[in-house]
Amino acid sequence: MTQKIFIKTFGCQMNEYDSNRIYDTVKKIDFVKTEKYNEADCYLLNTCHIRDKAKEKVYHEIGRVKKIFRSKTKPLVIVVGCVAQAEHEEMLKREPYIDLVLGPQAYHKINDTILNYQSKKSKHEETEFDAITKFEYLSKIKNQASKISSFLTIQEGCDKFCHFCVVPYTRGPEYSRPFNQIVDEAKQLADNGSKEIILLGQNVNAYNFENYRLSNLILELEKLSGIERIRYTTSHPKDMTTDLIDTYKNSKKLMPLVHLPVQSGSDKILDLMNRKHTIKTYLEIFNKLKKINSNIEFSSDFIIAYPGEEENDFEDTIKLIDEIKFINSFSFIFSPRPGTVAADLPLIDKKRSMERLEIVQQKLFSNQINMNKKLEGKQINVLVENRTDDKSKLFARSEYMTSVLFSGSDDLVGKIVKVKIKKSNQNTLFGDLVNQSNQKVA
Ligand code: SAM
Ligand code: SF4
Ligand code: F3S
Repeated sequence: MTQKIFIKTFGCQMNEYDSNRIYDTVKKIDFVKTEKYNEADCYLLNTCHIRDKAKEKVYHEIGRVKKIFRSKTKPLVIVVGCVAQAEHEEMLKREPYIDLVLGPQAYHKINDTILNYQSKKSKHEETEFDAITKFEYLSKIKNQASKISSFLTIQEGCDKFCHFCVVPYTRGPEYSRPFNQIVDEAKQLADNGSKEIILLGQNVNAYNFENYRLSNLILELEKLSGIERIRYTTSHPKDMTTDLIDTYKNSKKLMPLVHLPVQSGSDKILDLMNRKHTIKTYLEIFNKLKKINSNIEFSSDFIIAYPGEEENDFEDTIKLIDEIKFINSFSFIFSPRPGTVAADLPLIDKKRSMERLEIVQQKLFSNQINMNKKLEGKQINVLVENRTDDKSKLFARSEYMTSVLFSGSDDLVGKIVKVKIKKSNQNTLFGDLVNQSNQKVA
């Protein structure tokens, strides 16, 4: 009998990809998605453990579901993702409303786990790291994502063990999917109508399958007809190898936005974080890429007030931001994570941490505003993804991932068109479609 599943996803893009693949899988045992909480027979929550706030959200969310179902039949409650991995059986004890817990490398077991629960009613957790079996299993299930821009995981896990980060513990050791498995899945996405593929990995540029690197994959995927744009995230400065840098010369479809998390502008802090790169090497990468194409822009992730960050370290971060002029960056105050090396280090004063975050964000936001302002009056290529929720405008993205809104007809969805930018704010560009007869059609 068909059952309705409500899927809620927190966290990074990989969790979004995983939730889609979980849905592709549970369809095989007759689940269909519902967008309404209160009609769900099964409630699945995909979780993130990266900062403490992200974790607490999980228990709040379960509390919300409990309330919604107070006077109804309790749904089957499944928690997956990085909190599931980190807390495994603890979760079942702390919140008895949860029935099943599955870590990110156990999704191939989800159907059996559900069926088993439904026949025996015994709570269960699956948190083994078995990425090979997971991807072998999932590769036999068609990826049915049909968005214009689709995620595709090519690599999972991490062996770098930055002292602040839970990912090596929640996603397990670094694993690269077989090259052909990825190409096959990209073909499915292209057949489903995707025009842009965003290759994902916690260390995506460490991808290495039998000496095929990320550069090989990009050049192979851009041959697929229908695919117009390729992006990848998240990369590590240490794995920004020459072949990948050269891909910015050789590829026609790789977008000119490089998301390369630096975390701090101070070598002392990078060393304390166990980042395995310096500001000098980071700037070398930046300069090499700018030399290849001066239109390349950088975005980054910053951790503010890492234990040991003194005023001069913080100033180094500001200096780096001024030098690189990052666009679209993420910045957060350090959040101690259990089990990591930095878990118990003495924290920087809360008020000073907040002040530093504000200074950094103001700088980052003003770079973003300036970058967008510079585009006013110019014509840019955008990929049209869909219509805005109120249906009044088309929603598209620039080559730098900035949202672009303009008026146009539905048949432009999935096409690359030129838009003349009239107005902008920090996050959005507003424009007019340029004469359609001269448009390049994807
Ligand atoms: N692999 C990427 C890299 O090496 O930079 C980062 C992946 S991590 C999922 C995404 C971002 O979360 C990091 O770049 C970092 O800025 C942030 N992050 C990770 N752990 C954190 C912590 N304990 N406190 C605050 N931010 C954190
Ligand atoms: Fe986390 Fe990235 Fe460091 Fe790996 S390289 S430990 S994912 S921050
Ligand atoms: Fe969060 Fe796990 Fe992604 S901790 S950021 S969901 S890899």
